[in-house]
Amino acid sequence: MKLSYSTIIFQCLLACASCALPTLYEYYTGDGISSGLSVDQPYFTLNGKNITIYGGAMHYFRVPPQHWRDRLRKLRAAGLNTVETILAWNIHEPRNGYFDFGSGGTDMEAFVDLEGFLTAALEEDLLVIVRPGPYTCGEWEWGGFPSWLLREDTLKVRTSEQTYMKYVERYFGNVLPILAKYQFTNGGPIIAVQVENEYGYNSDIDKVYLQSLVDLMKSNGIVELLFTSDGASSGTAGTLPGVLFQTVNFGSDAATSFHILEGLQPGKPVMAMEFYPGWFDHWSEGHHTLSDSDFRANYEDILGYPASVNLYMFHGGTNWGFFNGANIGPGDNSQFQPTTTSYDYNAPLTEAGDYTSKYDIIRELLVLYNPIETLVPDPPELVERQEYPTLSIDGYLSLENIVANSHEIILTTSTLSMEQLPINDDSGQSYGYIVYREGGLNISAYSNLTITGHIRDTVMILINGVLISSSLSSSDDFNNFGYWRLENSTITLTTEDLTDATLDIVIENFGRANFGNMYHQFKGLMEDNRVFLNDEELWFWVIYPLEFQSSWTKNLTDWNSVSSDLPKGPGLYKATLTVDDDHTDTFIDMSEWNRGVVIVNGFVLGRYAFIGPQQTLYLPGPFLQTGDNDIVIFEHFEPASEVKFSTDAIFSNP
Ligand SMILES: *[C@@H]1O[C@H](CO)[C@@H](O)[C@H](O)[C@H]1NC(C)=O
Ligand SMILES: *[C@@H]1O[C@H](CO)[C@@H](O)[C@H](O)[C@H]1NC(C)=O
Ligand SMILES: *[C@@H]1O[C@H](CO)[C@@H](O)[C@H](O)[C@H]1NC(C)=O
Ligand SMILES: *[C@@H]1O[C@H](CO)[C@@H](O)[C@H](O)[C@H]1NC(C)=O
Ligand SMILES: *[C@@H]1O[C@H](CO)[C@@H](O)[C@H](O)[C@H]1NC(C)=O
Repeated sequence: MKLSYSTIIFQCLLACASCALPTLYEYYTGDGISSGLSVDQPYFTLNGKNITIYGGAMHYFRVPPQHWRDRLRKLRAAGLNTVETILAWNIHEPRNGYFDFGSGGTDMEAFVDLEGFLTAALEEDLLVIVRPGPYTCGEWEWGGFPSWLLREDTLKVRTSEQTYMKYVERYFGNVLPILAKYQFTNGGPIIAVQVENEYGYNSDIDKVYLQSLVDLMKSNGIVELLFTSDGASSGTAGTLPGVLFQTVNFGSDAATSFHILEGLQPGKPVMAMEFYPGWFDHWSEGHHTLSDSDFRANYEDILGYPASVNLYMFHGGTNWGFFNGANIGPGDNSQFQPTTTSYDYNAPLTEAGDYTSKYDIIRELLVLYNPIETLVPDPPELVERQEYPTLSIDGYLSLENIVANSHEIILTTSTLSMEQLPINDDSGQSYGYIVYREGGLNISAYSNLTITGHIRDTVMILINGVLISSSLSSSDDFNNFGYWRLENSTITLTTEDLTDATLDIVIENFGRANFGNMYHQFKGLMEDNRVFLNDEELWFWVIYPLEFQSSWTKNLTDWNSVSSDLPKGPGLYKATLTVDDDHTDTFIDMSEWNRGVVIVNGFVLGRYAFIGPQQTLYLPGPFLQTGDNDIVIFEHFEPASEVKFSTDAIFSNP
């Protein structure tokens, strides 16, 4: 075949058309860097050039670090120019005064490599918006607050109260200099920094607090644009007009929110900092989805306005381990709603990084609306997930075996919450389970155990190592003994007289509230959770914290061998997954199990509950090692006989 001259010219033009495009970073910095993001006119400029921010949220700590590059490239390949992330104080300062930014040796060490993430974003040709908080909500445990803050009696989060500010000052003093280094005008990707988060929804508005945060940011070297984000209905309650640039958060009806924002901030550009392409799930709810047509219409309303917009979330990822947040009603714990481990969010990229039709819509619309052409990479190819062979259980540890391995045993004659335990360098216990034991009890037939107040959050009762409380049979059980909704809950313990019996009360922290009435976030037994055996108050406890820290779980030996008839929970059930060199991502299908957590090679992957909607746990390939891998399940009630895998996420709709 003979190529015509015109074909050759055309092919050459095509090739050169794309190779001639500057990268995003070249486009904005080609002539040197003299200024950052500016809102001094009704549109954004960056380094003096017009820019519309097309952002997508992806939280570094919700994505396996080995997959950061892949997800960031997918974000850029969609045509987006900015990645937005919140920070999570509780994984950067897991114990009072002990910081981890990637080499601190904590179980989240690999996830908290903030500099690694910012470097990857820059190298993937993305600008970055950061929201360091200190409160960042995000459906993350206690909105990002470390639980050891609860140990300070007078401390009041999200206010200018002194003890709280003392800790904020120290945390910001450690984290902000890292962010400062990566600012745009210092040659990095960060173009804007948010102050607090949706502060307008807070019950006590403390503007002195907001100003102190601004001062701390500046004194720690933050020079880029400072802003706040709130629902439009909050007006200026959550911001400092004239000091902080304001953005709005919404899921639909862009024009209404933008008109309000323009009224509050005339002559400034408008931006949706959180525009919701999907939503998160609580346990026992239906899986939330937003249709493609609604998504397209809402997104196009924003693009056509025209306005800048950040998709919250572009890629949701996972609430690893015990790090899910919860919603909560006013007052007590009765309206507690824990968020699932999956933070898939029905986002444009799924929890496991798959493209969705929303991804295609974004790509299509940005080509239409973005007037600035820069070099955009091709969407990376997907790596196939594997459905590993079904495994049988090869080891078992009873609760008695588990507490026998406890390296912390606390004796007390009063109720002590997990946060108040004198462990972890006096930072208390942050996450997991806590066992309150009392031995030597004479219990007459039909005795009743009563726990006053609302449990925080779920409880299992054992007598002489045998589970007395019921398995989870449906989400209606949340109204019964064992869960948070009942005030003063009672269970009948035995049908016969028992002497010298041992009572175990196992309490699960199901995640601290990240939004709403989130001040009183103690877990385990508090002063208002008094325990009565009939009319007699029990007050002598032996406490075993069950944190499932990696070093501890990996240390567990002497697993009991099991037959096909597995003992009931609570207990640890182990299976061994053997993989070869080319192990890739998978999902663990927990639909046949009842309620608990899954731990892979010591790392707590997350929680499961058959009531759904989440039925599978995302297991990234990089968490596995060639050879044998320990899959350990802490099941509260009814173990299944096998561990199954699935190539795809499964959601049930109760
Ligand atoms: C920047 O955007 C504004 C508002 O759309 C427009 O008036 C102006 O011409 C643009 N400047 C350049 C250099 O494109
Ligand atoms: C429990 O019962 C045993 C046997 O009747 C008795 O010896 C013991 O004193 C009782 N313990 C308590 C705490 O009442
Ligand atoms: C326990 O509660 C049940 C139901 O209220 C009651 O019938 C029973 O008498 C109680 N047992 C004791 C020992 O008080
Ligand atoms: C729970 O018990 C407390 C006393 O411990 C009592 O004041 C309160 O009214 C009880 N609540 C309910 C709902 O029974
Ligand atoms: C692991 O086991 C070793 C040897 O028994 C012990 O010294 C160490 O403290 C254990 N580590 C943890 C975290 O329990």
